[in-house]
Amino acid sequence: MNFYRSALAVALSLGLAFNAAAQTNAPAQADAPAPAAAQLDPTAPNPAPVHPELRGVFQDFGGEAGLTALMDDFMAIMLADPRMRPFFENTDQPRVKRQLVEQFCAILGGGCTYTGRDMQSSHAGLQIDRADFNALVEDLQVAMNRRGVPFRSQNKLLAILAPMHRQMINR
Ligand code: HEM
Repeated sequence: MNFYRSALAVALSLGLAFNAAAQTNAPAQADAPAPAAAQLDPTAPNPAPVHPELRGVFQDFGGEAGLTALMDDFMAIMLADPRMRPFFENTDQPRVKRQLVEQFCAILGGGCTYTGRDMQSSHAGLQIDRADFNALVEDLQVAMNRRGVPFRSQNKLLAILAPMHRQMINR
């Protein structure tokens, strides 16, 4: 029963996220150039578009401390997932987790500054296809469920991340 409920939840939320991707026709903020920083391509889409209206969602994630705990879980789940492990096992995992905390915190109006690279540069050469992208989103959903993030807040975040798939999928 639980399995079916969570499978349904995953399917629904993927559908919702990708519908949002299809329907979100370049929101002004999301396509604004990223803030100038040495390691960012200034012409790339903003990797951390700030959504001040999602501050409540940020609270649902437990603030910055909650996001840090989420990334620990998320990375552990991905390293245990044969679909994701090859991508992450040889990366600087603490750094990737820190960048993800900054990125999600900034997006959710938590007041953080994202200091990482833009999404296209940081995923170039990784040979990511749509199935890989979906698998990562599934693992993120498992992590969010484990941390008790309300389903509605999960989907608010996913609706912003989903359109970024165009910048990562490169095969
Ligand atoms: C919406 C989805 C995604 C988001 C928001 C995201 C975000 C990020 C961020 C913020 C970084 C750190 C950037 C930096 O190095 O400065 C990163 C790195 C990385 N991502 Fe993603 N990512 C996403 C999807 C994916 C997917 C689908 C894969 C592979 C299946 C992936 C694999 C990686 C890897 C391996 C790194 C480390 C690269 C390196 O250390 O050089 N990501 N990602």
